Amino acid sequence: MVKMARHGFSRLRLHACLAVALAGSVLPVLAQAEPPPAAPTPVIVWDVPAFNALPDDEQGRLARYGRSVIEATYAHIGPAVADPAARFAGNNLACANCHLQAGLKKFGLPLVAASADYPAYSSRSGAVSSLFDRVNQCLKRSMNGRPMAEDDRPMQAILAYLDVLATNIPPDATIVGAGAGAIPELDRAADPVRGAAIYAANCAECHRRDGLGVRRNEAQPDMGYAFPPLWGPDSFNDGAGTARLITLANFVHDNMPNGTSWVAPTLAPQDAWDVAAFVLSQPRPQLAGIDRDFPDLLLKPVDAAYPPFADSFPAEQHRYGPFAPIRAEIARLKQARGTIPNPNTP
Ligand code: HEC
Ligand code: HEC
Repeated sequence: MVKMARHGFSRLRLHACLAVALAGSVLPVLAQAEPPPAAPTPVIVWDVPAFNALPDDEQGRLARYGRSVIEATYAHIGPAVADPAARFAGNNLACANCHLQAGLKKFGLPLVAASADYPAYSSRSGAVSSLFDRVNQCLKRSMNGRPMAEDDRPMQAILAYLDVLATNIPPDATIVGAGAGAIPELDRAADPVRGAAIYAANCAECHRRDGLGVRRNEAQPDMGYAFPPLWGPDSFNDGAGTARLITLANFVHDNMPNGTSWVAPTLAPQDAWDVAAFVLSQPRPQLAGIDRDFPDLLLKPVDAAYPPFADSFPAEQHRYGPFAPIRAEIARLKQARGTIPNPNTP
């Protein structure tokens, strides 16, 4: 009995760690009184099929094309491709600039379990979201573009690729290495001024001082970037997951400078927080209508820095932290109010 209870507890803790890694929005669920029913054991080894071993049939070809769309998005659906009807992404990034190693890197925003995780409830839209919807969210936000139809061939290809990645991942499985990690938070606000010096010393060499990155060919934007931009007109917009400090700080800590692994990070956590704050203090495209995100404001992640908010902390604190006081206030409001409807959601 005792042993079982202990086992259950450690699973729950591990689950909580992973939830932090995945998204701030999962936390409130865990803060509720009832523990979730026995969480499935996290998948430690990702058993991903070898792509060169896929059959040369329609499905195999579609999945290979999907991998190419993810690795060279700019060349297939970017804003500078020849066919205007094929322009879905609004910037010349690749999905794989963020979903590192085409979605196969631990704590590099992996896509290995995506097919197994969806459909899933999205607190951002307040509805159940399919994997197709989720990909379109990245198209609209991370790629600052427009959504594809479900039967558009590049979308079918992305979904086929994600299906292959998840071949051996059980439905609703939690994977070890999901998201971008969970470095300890600071008890002060992250500091963009201190972050500017860290940027100059650790990032500017590749992403450049002006943050605009380095194109492979200045005259041909549809060849993408050798070093992608971190802000400016060709970057992700303010509604993107990467525009949230917790996501960005963890991503940078576990993956940057490029080639860094979570096993041997380069930056101290404090430096990752401050450099992320500096990056987010710079200008980037703005997405219209993000004030309608999160129909229940109590489910809005603490670091989604755009109004409206359930609490009365300033936008500045949602942007840079510290987040613990906001979280405590959200927990209190949950107890007292249950939900707080977003007045802007239709
Ligand atoms: C600028 C970085 C960035 C780019 C570019 C990007 N994404 Fe994402 N993507 C994210 C982040 C961050 C998350 C996690 C969101 C969160 O924590 O709210 C995510 C989540 C996802 C998920 C959900 C994964 C899961 O298991 O829940 C899918 C699927 C996805 N992205 C697909 C894509 C595809 C396909 C593209 C290219 C068309 C793309 N993304 C481009 C940053 C990016
Ligand atoms: C050695 C060159 C190099 C250095 C130094 C470097 N990066 Fe990167 N960074 C890259 C490359 C290359 C990618 C795209 C990776 C890919 O496509 O596989 C990337 C991707 C990114 C991304 C996601 C894509 C985007 O454009 O938003 C962010 C965010 C980022 N880097 C932040 C940083 C920060 C912050 C630092 C400094 C702490 C840093 N990088 C240091 C090369 C570098």
